[in-house]
Amino acid sequence: MVNDSAILQYDGKSYTLPVVTGTQKETAIDIGTLRARSGLITLDSGYGNTGSCSSAITYVNGERGVLKYRGYRIEGLATQSTFIETAYLLIFGELPTVAQLDEFRRILTANESIHEDMRYHFDGFPPNAPPMAILSAMVNTLGCFEPAFMKAEEDAHFIEPAARLMSKIRTIAAASYRKSRGKPLIYPRSDLRYTANFLHMMFSNPYALYEADETIVDALDRLLILHADHEQNCSTSTVRMVASSQANLYASVAAGICALWGPLHGGANVAVIDMLSRLADSGESLEKFVERVKKKDSDTRLMGFGHRVYKDFDPRAKIIKKACDRLLAKLGIHDPLLEIAMRLEEIALNDPYFVERKLYPNVDYYSGIILRAIGIPTEMFTVIFAIGRLPGWIAHWREVRTNPGSRIDRPRQVYSGPVVREYLPIAERPG
Ligand code: ACO
Repeated sequence: MVNDSAILQYDGKSYTLPVVTGTQKETAIDIGTLRARSGLITLDSGYGNTGSCSSAITYVNGERGVLKYRGYRIEGLATQSTFIETAYLLIFGELPTVAQLDEFRRILTANESIHEDMRYHFDGFPPNAPPMAILSAMVNTLGCFEPAFMKAEEDAHFIEPAARLMSKIRTIAAASYRKSRGKPLIYPRSDLRYTANFLHMMFSNPYALYEADETIVDALDRLLILHADHEQNCSTSTVRMVASSQANLYASVAAGICALWGPLHGGANVAVIDMLSRLADSGESLEKFVERVKKKDSDTRLMGFGHRVYKDFDPRAKIIKKACDRLLAKLGIHDPLLEIAMRLEEIALNDPYFVERKLYPNVDYYSGIILRAIGIPTEMFTVIFAIGRLPGWIAHWREVRTNPGSRIDRPRQVYSGPVVREYLPIAERPG
């Protein structure tokens, strides 16, 4: 909604630009006509001040520590909903009725297997190939096996393509882990719900079924809810950008998986456990480690701390910490890394460096401890994040592809290279 304006003065001229207000009263200067009128573009490295789109899916208020999916607070969803219900909410905009949820579950169950020929593709990866590489490649491969759904945006109901991809990603994820460990791939069980079925495909063997403890299934389900969307983060922006070129759902999600892989994004949950393990093994004092992290020339960061948007507690981190305490107590697990994490958090939160920069634990700080307790190996942490984030990616892909005003994303730049150089044949080049 446009209800105000901002004035930009440059080179003796004045430009009035509309100010747009969102439903949560956040405001933005719409610079859509700026270049055409003034020749100017804006420069915003890392996009910290740039709204790339208007979206009705998720709201984050980083100053107040608020996160809502489609208007529902994360605290309520994480305690009362299930991952599948939350996924439905994100993708279709409303909490499902009993009939809608039944239908969603029916399609999920009907599509839990992957095409038998897809299984051979897993053989092409070397042993120990990173599961995130396999996941991304196999999601793109999945598109080749589902040509009818390459044009998912034309599906008026969209429930079939969305549920198929959600169902198959957990089968692919589990298979990527089994393959990386040289274990036989396990077929899904249609009597199990989404999360329990995933754990079965991860941990069962042809000769011994794995029966997941309810506490574990519940903890993983909640973790998936907390990861399900987070507005315009790096991987979601990637999905949206790829979608803006009218690429299909599978290609766009495969690109999002690659973006999520990085240690500054979804890969941080692995980096946190690596950091805590190194501290446990080396015996380095936590105070000394924090001093090292603070040095300007240090390439070490306190992983799992800080966030581009949250300048207060990440609400997901608060929920995860409580869930972590509950799970470990219920399973009777004593994890020395949890103790280190808690002491490190206390030191950081009382240190002016972290206080001044508003650096708090983020979603990844304690999630790795939960995943360890569940028995998920470290190399699979980011894959779990991807399974959780998938409904968000699907919702954003759909928002882009069904928006009649959508244009291809194509940022500008300020060129900083040489102005003009004459080509020199190789024999005439100095040195
Ligand atoms: N440890 C130590 N210092 C930090 C940390 C950290 N974890 N995070 C930020 N800082 C410092 C920076 O050095 C910088 O200090 P300066 O102002 O003196 O130069 C200041 O805080 C601002 O940091 P930026 O890097 O500019 O913040 P940005 O918003 O670009 O980065 C990010 C956010 C990437 C999350 C960063 O905080 C970080 O690297 N954290 C560790 C990795 C991590 O946990 N990532 C997961 C994020 S959540 C997610 O993606 C699911």
